[in-house]
Amino acid sequence: MKLIFLGPPGAGKGTLALKAVEILKVEQISTGSIFRAAIAAKSPLGVKVKEIIDSGKLVDDDTTIALVKERLAMDDVQKGYILDGFPRTIVQAQALDTFSVVEKVINFDIPDSGVLERLGGRRVCRKCGYNFHLIFNKPAKENICDHCGGEIYTRDDDRPEAVQKRLEVYRKQTAPLIDFYRNRGLLQDIDARPMVDEIVVNFKKALGI
Ligand code: AP5
Ligand code: MG
Repeated sequence: MKLIFLGPPGAGKGTLALKAVEILKVEQISTGSIFRAAIAAKSPLGVKVKEIIDSGKLVDDDTTIALVKERLAMDDVQKGYILDGFPRTIVQAQALDTFSVVEKVINFDIPDSGVLERLGGRRVCRKCGYNFHLIFNKPAKENICDHCGGEIYTRDDDRPEAVQKRLEVYRKQTAPLIDFYRNRGLLQDIDARPMVDEIVVNFKKALGI
């Protein structure tokens, strides 16, 4: 199945995607994770996008579209994928139409208060990228990843100023995609407020599986 996960920052897209890839046996493609890996590797892409991402703005459309187009040409995603965090602008959605046919768009519905609670407590493994939360999903040992033993850190774009910017950018540039896909009959809203296990149940219902 070819899916898009659409929603504000901190809605739980990455967290549900980890469960959904097991259920659907497809790959997750997170543009944010690809950019963070490039930043960690100090590659030319990483150097180019670091400041933009840390400040909470969007990377330019041409760079992001080229990255996703290249990834979607690979063998392992021909039968299905979860696009987590792409498209994020109408221009990106129109470009996606030219190289892939999406079957459903899962829209994560959550108020700003929920976003602030989730991003305020998020901690991420530097090595494997797993997302913890200081209240909802604590690591067994402080600052050490349960999965790979990596160091746990706070994303630079989870600072309060950057979170406000990301919410503003989401409203202006990404939220219009809700109507874009609803008008095509592809959108499926999901209540993103409950705990993860309940969201998984709602997700399966939304897909009719
Ligand atoms: P990206 O990494 O995609 O960030 P985002 O969309 O802001 O979303 P997050 O990853 O912050 O949140 P999430 O919805 O995945 O939530 P999570 O599961 O972690 O992008 C980062 C940046 O890259 C962008 O700002 C932009 O600069 C750039 N970029 C990326 N894509 C781009 C594009 N297409 N175009 C241009 N630029 C692009 O959950 C959050 C926290 O809540 C975690 O701590 C988690 O443990 C906890 N949690 C999750 N679900 C639950 C739950 N159900 N109950 C309790 N806690 C929960
Ligand atoms: Mg994410």
